Amino acid sequence: MSRAQRKIDHINHALSTGQERKHGFEDIRFVHNSLPNTSVDEIDISTKIGELFLSSPIFINAMTGGGGRETEQINGSLAKAAAETGVAMAVGSQMAAIKNSEEAATYEVVRRCNPDGIILANLGSEATVEQAKRAVEMIDADAFQIHLNVIQELVMPEGDRDFKQALERIERIVEEVGVPVVVKEVGFGMSHETVEKLSTVGVSIVDVSGYGGTNFSKIENERRDRHYEFFNSWGITTAASLIEVNNKHPYISTIGSGGIQSGVDAVKALSIGANAVGMAGTLLRVLSGKGMEGLLEELWTIQDEMKIIMAALGCRTVEDLKKVPLVISGDTHHWLSSRGID
Ligand code: FNR
Repeated sequence: MSRAQRKIDHINHALSTGQERKHGFEDIRFVHNSLPNTSVDEIDISTKIGELFLSSPIFINAMTGGGGRETEQINGSLAKAAAETGVAMAVGSQMAAIKNSEEAATYEVVRRCNPDGIILANLGSEATVEQAKRAVEMIDADAFQIHLNVIQELVMPEGDRDFKQALERIERIVEEVGVPVVVKEVGFGMSHETVEKLSTVGVSIVDVSGYGGTNFSKIENERRDRHYEFFNSWGITTAASLIEVNNKHPYISTIGSGGIQSGVDAVKALSIGANAVGMAGTLLRVLSGKGMEGLLEELWTIQDEMKIIMAALGCRTVEDLKKVPLVISGDTHHWLSSRGID
């Protein structure tokens, strides 16, 4: 099967398998504040990941590219929505265009439709420094995402089976690529032990991309005869992953993604330490079902909801959110106690 067809399959299966909605945010409750001393007009949702300033914590996470005209159209729409709403956007893995320059158009459209916005390039941890530099150059990227997708590869019939030396390649990219590097998962979460290893090679921004939203085990299982069912419930939820990573690595900038669907999910992610919040599957579904108008409305509504919730909590800024009292129950509480995290 061609790489282009695989990309189209991913989009179709992501749309049909849906979001798990078991990201752990259901276990997190805010403590109501009757005297918030805030005004909705004064709420400031701007944030920083590392040294990168973002006018909104919401960004469109890596999805497509390299699938010909269909992904070019999707990327164009996502990029126009990002430009109009001022949110950042990551492109999907650019390996297709590194291997075949004819595919570059499906990514270049993103910079063309959003000349001044924050855009992140994307490749897997198999990438070399040269490939990383080409990916950044291709879209004049402001930052570079390296995705870690071991489970996806293992379930993928034609996927990689050798995961050696990834950390060494990441170290070289961090040293030489020339833009901030974000290391991300693709929906299985990151443990604090993984982040410990990444921090020793100079990584300072991670996107935990946890379990509970798009499920790449289910997506890839759709594409194989004998299913690896055991990976369908594999992974660390987005909430548990964010809490354990922020607890053990307070100096790492974290991004929360994996199942974010609403303003309240986003505010919960920020309140447990995320600096920004990525959304992929939900936005793809809105674009596919409701078109460009629907996507724009979704992005504006989520940001409005965030301001309303922050006002209720007495938080004027994203930094203030990190101090709000929370009650954590259920599986997330259990996970954190088993992991020795208060
Ligand atoms: C993805 N994701 C992804 N991530 C990445 O780093 N490179 C990629 O090429 C892709 N491709 C891709 C295609 C499609 C169709 C989807 C839905 C997702 C993963 C994505 O960025 C994110 O980490 C996960 O999807 C979890 O977030 P959501 O979807 O639950 O919001």
